[in-house]
Amino acid sequence: MRHNHDRALSIAAVVGATALALTGCGGGSGAAGGGGTLRLALNQTEEHPSFIALEDFGNRLTEGTDGRWGIEVYANETLGAQQEALQLVGADTVDMAIVAGPQLENLNEEFVAFNLPLVFDSIDHQMNVINNPDITGDLYSSLEDQNISVLGGLTAGTRNIYTSEGPITEPADLDGMKIRVQESPIHTEMIERMGGSATPMAYGEVYTALQSGVLDGAENNEVSYMTQKHYEVAGYFARTEHLIVPDYLVMSTERLADMSEADRAVFDAEWSAAIGEHTELWTGATDEAIAEAEAAGVQFNDVDDETFRAAVEPLVDQSLTSDTIRELYETTRAAAE
Ligand code: GCU
Repeated sequence: MRHNHDRALSIAAVVGATALALTGCGGGSGAAGGGGTLRLALNQTEEHPSFIALEDFGNRLTEGTDGRWGIEVYANETLGAQQEALQLVGADTVDMAIVAGPQLENLNEEFVAFNLPLVFDSIDHQMNVINNPDITGDLYSSLEDQNISVLGGLTAGTRNIYTSEGPITEPADLDGMKIRVQESPIHTEMIERMGGSATPMAYGEVYTALQSGVLDGAENNEVSYMTQKHYEVAGYFARTEHLIVPDYLVMSTERLADMSEADRAVFDAEWSAAIGEHTELWTGATDEAIAEAEAAGVQFNDVDDETFRAAVEPLVDQSLTSDTIRELYETTRAAAE
């Protein structure tokens, strides 16, 4: 995994190149009807369905706008881990990023509604909710005063716990184990309730932390488990299926305003197509990841679902702290039926 130092250097290089490009063409933010290559920060590898669907999105955008707009996807946290990438989008330094739900929850707590355990029954249920403007309209525009437009969501899969020692079948098995979570107070509490000791950490740091024993485990979907090579250092995979969290595409509100209406229509249509492509790729990628993991000797096991469910259930009620959050949660649950 990369060192922060290298990452800071590459961010500086890209930001420097952006400044040069802007000087060079005399364009930049504010010129309505403009164009350019949108820099998109991603923390996944180039094999991950998100990278593939976003690259395809960029290619179609270029084609559909006669080359006025394009997207360059920077994989592997080259433009920073999600927390940092989100700040750079807000500062209009990076144009776009994919960030997981917890990152937005840190800017507006209402996003918590979609980060709770038990909120989504399936990936299909999740996709029907997080890309339904009737449900998400106000939520997704709520960060525009911070220059962040939320354009919609991709599934980040069903999450499970994996550990270097195992198997884990019930909460008591996690006693004393340090389990990585995303940077979210709710997810920290969730792991504590599930019996572990939660350690919030950026995605790109997890492999080394598992390898060195700083962590005893982590939680993620099968695709990330394989593409990040976590299976090499945490070979017990317990099917806890405790979360289905969204990833969001965020974009600098200012940069988005640079687009002519016609180009924006192409952008929206192609982004919608990218969501569809990603969802389709997801199932295949998950099956492939499981097969590869099994071939590599990973031990999968089922867990005592009821005890894990009972452990996290109180978190839901406790998190519905405003009318808006409750309404988002209840509308989401109603959409499951
Ligand atoms: C998934 C998700 C990412 C997220 C990561 C994590 O891979 O798609 O957006 O950053 O989990 O656990 O941090």
